[in-house]
Amino acid sequence: MHSTNKVFNDELHTMTLSEDGSYTAYSKEYDEHYHSTRDGALKESLVKHVEPAFKIKQDQREINILDICFALGFNTLATLYYYKQNSLTSKLNIYSPELDKTLVKSLQNFTYPKEFEEFKPIIDAICRDGIYEDENFYIEVFLDDAREYVRKFESKFDIVYQDAFSPNSNPALWTKEYFSDIKRSIKDNGVLTTYSIALATRLALYENGFNIYLNIGDDYRDATVASPSELAAFKEVDMPHKISCNPNAEPLRDSRVYNT
Ligand SMILES: C[S@@+](CC[C@H](N)C(=O)[O-])C[C@H]1O[C@@H](n2cnc3c(N)ncnc32)[C@H](O)[C@@H]1O
Repeated sequence: MHSTNKVFNDELHTMTLSEDGSYTAYSKEYDEHYHSTRDGALKESLVKHVEPAFKIKQDQREINILDICFALGFNTLATLYYYKQNSLTSKLNIYSPELDKTLVKSLQNFTYPKEFEEFKPIIDAICRDGIYEDENFYIEVFLDDAREYVRKFESKFDIVYQDAFSPNSNPALWTKEYFSDIKRSIKDNGVLTTYSIALATRLALYENGFNIYLNIGDDYRDATVASPSELAAFKEVDMPHKISCNPNAEPLRDSRVYNT
């Protein structure tokens, strides 16, 4: 299943085999894995992000994707894999912030699943230059804070992959204020995917004008899809009902994360 094994482990990251046979990594800094080891790294990218997003978006000439955050690049690479598997022809532009420069620079040494083998030149270019471009793909990795990066865009994105570490360990990327910036950056008919099903996450999206939908399947843990528009392809979460059942629930707020 894998291309040749290489040495990736360093003082902050160790490689871990996940349930679907693909490797992910464990972050000592965040004390979390980069993917669900139970669902599997490749599978999680495909079923929780790429497939639900492309169920809505694939007929456009050009598709702009915000990938929060790049890390091992699975969501970006799984997007390219899906694109090739389904013989899509749109121009894909992928914009992805990532704070961990050391991680991105070391990805040449990561053991990716064989499904990503043909993207080796793309991984090498991103490690080296932070950017890759050909006639079908433009990929830009911004090696700094996602909060700052997202504010540069207005009505730009067709797809947002919301894949930060969990709200407990990476709260700045789950607040109501953060999702307000995401709302400004996404198109009115854009679609956001996330593994989080926490009510606080859904509230942060809902209070910014997103409709909330279920992403459920027999062989993976539930996830969330959200959009400023109505999506007929997914079952909507009844947020007024959830709120009436949990009147004390609140979204995370910047004031709590940054102690301002
Ligand atoms: C769960 S991992 C993302 C996994 C990735 N989507 C993949 O498929 O490999 C979360 C990433 O967010 C990055 N991160 C956390 N806070 C950030 C911030 N404020 N700006 C940019 N990156 C951030 C972490 O360094 C980590 O690499």
